[in-house]
Amino acid sequence: MVQIIRAKDFEDMSRKAANIIAAQVVLKPESVLGLATGSTPVGLYSRLIEMYKAGDVSFRNVHTVNLDEYEGLDARSDQSYVWFMHHNLFDSVDVKSENINLPNGAAADGEAECKRYEEVVRGFGYADLQLLGIGHNGHIGFNEPCGEFPQETHRVELTESTIRANSRFFADGEHVPTHAYTMGIGTIMNAKKVLLVASGKDKADIVYRSFFGPVTPQVPASILQFHPDVTVVADEAALALVK
Ligand code: F6R
Repeated sequence: MVQIIRAKDFEDMSRKAANIIAAQVVLKPESVLGLATGSTPVGLYSRLIEMYKAGDVSFRNVHTVNLDEYEGLDARSDQSYVWFMHHNLFDSVDVKSENINLPNGAAADGEAECKRYEEVVRGFGYADLQLLGIGHNGHIGFNEPCGEFPQETHRVELTESTIRANSRFFADGEHVPTHAYTMGIGTIMNAKKVLLVASGKDKADIVYRSFFGPVTPQVPASILQFHPDVTVVADEAALALVK
């Protein structure tokens, strides 16, 4: 079942989504939180830091599992997702470093790393709450449109357009990753709850197609229509086509 919560703007979306995550942690302090990177969650992570500092929520007993990571990057690279998470959330709250999990972009054997990571997430019984952003083509994690829904954590070859889009974040001469590791659609669908955030008019078309169009691996997020507990928090602009 998909519940859609309409927010006024990015700020309001961030506040509402942060409240949902904080409520999850207050109700179950040892929650497994599935987390995402990208520009959309940055505001909600700031709100969670504020709530932590105000003493309203603690992440002491939380475990985290992130959706994805670039192959070849580790915490020393400010383009890595592990760096992003430390910078935007982990270093400012009381989550224990040993409770933080992401695919290891620096692993020598990518296939083995994907297997290891899937086992980690499965070992937790999957996420209690999985936070997702959504790509303009409906991707979730690095699960791009394709012929069938990938089940487990796997290695993906990034499309030319993704590599081109990403290259603007990298300094001249810096290695722009060509591959990434991502939870599969099955891994994501096994989460007990899903919270998807979307902001801006450029997301309006894909939000509409994902939740009101046919379920197809050509729009990976559309599979969420089959999940029993999905909350979409999106702002007016992203919900422009949803009456
Ligand atoms: C991030 C991720 C991606 C983003 C998506 C939207 O870990 O897996 O699927 O959620 O690309 O990105 P933004 O929020 O930058 O529009």
